Amino acid sequence: MAKCRICQSKYQPFIDFGPMPISNNFLAEKDFANEYFFPMKAGFCSSCSMVQLLEQPAADVMFHDNYTFFSGTSRLMAEHFKHFADDIKLNYLTDKQSPFVVEIGSNDGIMLQNFAEAPYRHLGVEPSANVARVAQDKGLNSIVRFFNLETAKDIVAAHGQADAFLAANCMCHIPTLHDIIEGIAHLMSPGGVVAFEDPYLGEVIRNTSFDQLYDEHVFLFSLHSISAAFAQHGFELIDAKPLETHGGSMRYYLSQKGMRPVSSRVKQLLQDEVDLGLLIPGTYDKFRLGCEQIRDDLKYLLIKLKREGKRVVGYAATSKSTTLLNYAGIGPELIEYISDTTPLKQGKFSPGMHIPVLPAETLQGNYPEYLLLFAYNHQKEIFAKEAQFAKNDGKWIMFVPNVHVVE
Ligand code: TYD
Repeated sequence: MAKCRICQSKYQPFIDFGPMPISNNFLAEKDFANEYFFPMKAGFCSSCSMVQLLEQPAADVMFHDNYTFFSGTSRLMAEHFKHFADDIKLNYLTDKQSPFVVEIGSNDGIMLQNFAEAPYRHLGVEPSANVARVAQDKGLNSIVRFFNLETAKDIVAAHGQADAFLAANCMCHIPTLHDIIEGIAHLMSPGGVVAFEDPYLGEVIRNTSFDQLYDEHVFLFSLHSISAAFAQHGFELIDAKPLETHGGSMRYYLSQKGMRPVSSRVKQLLQDEVDLGLLIPGTYDKFRLGCEQIRDDLKYLLIKLKREGKRVVGYAATSKSTTLLNYAGIGPELIEYISDTTPLKQGKFSPGMHIPVLPAETLQGNYPEYLLLFAYNHQKEIFAKEAQFAKNDGKWIMFVPNVHVVE
């Protein structure tokens, strides 16, 4: 039995993915022997409805000076964060003279850059020094630290309280969520808005997108579980918006209880979660069967293509692909290489299964018959970019919400 990180109740895992490496640890051949693995199991706490990994590697094993994920790799994501920033400016900050905005996990500054000009004051808090440096080089204020109560106290002492606290694809990374919320409670000005977005449990269940679970994603949030966690610190959910990013995300808006009106959307979305079965353990058992089906169908398809002499290349060395490949046991015998635009990943090998990662240019003029799309969340952008592949009779292999081929 494991103990829930949010409400301390006991719960059982509903899925065991087996030994899993660090999802962003693209490594050189000399490091294969010392690769780090942890037992990856996920469970559902039926008391507060949080879905979580039972174990997570230590934070400094995942976030460090060689962190390989740069937020600015997608053009559409840059637009997305501009919209996020506009939403906060227009709906929550118009009544402030010189609003102070704090973002945690601010990475290379892709969102923070929208608050760089007056009247806004901004501060990024980012534990991975190499990505924070990219933000600093753009002239953004970014400190290299983990966020918690201590950090919040230092920020308030230096800059005053924050009017907006933002995070994107970061809150679900932090196992000590209560420490973060304690820090937030200290940091926020009265009526300040806390807004963050993460992959949404409801979409993961609808699409069987189990690859959203990996070392960094220790939680899969829902409106129910977020309300339960923040209520313990005097906050309430005032709004929530479903988003298309990362294959289906949710943006949560919270404020100190009673300080801001609660949108009618909250009630509706809470009901949708009940209707989807997010509060019943049986839903997660059904989900596990769906995961096993995808795992087996994909492996079967790849073995069949191999036997037919077809070439298959992976497209985008995502963190998500680490879960899929290791869970299904798919390695370089089935996938020739993975094409990726991130220089730090190129020339290295994928975590655990050790498939070579090569620059995206490798594909040009030498397309395989099949591309397996790991970054299905960027499908629109990628299909447009690779129009020539389809014109050459290339086929895309997709695995969400089920294994299928797009001709
Ligand atoms: P993303 O789905 O954001 O990754 P994660 O699962 O880690 O959150 O995809 C980012 C990765 O995809 C990054 O390694 C760059 C790569 N990528 C490409 O190689 N080509 C592309 O056109 C895009 C959009 C991403």
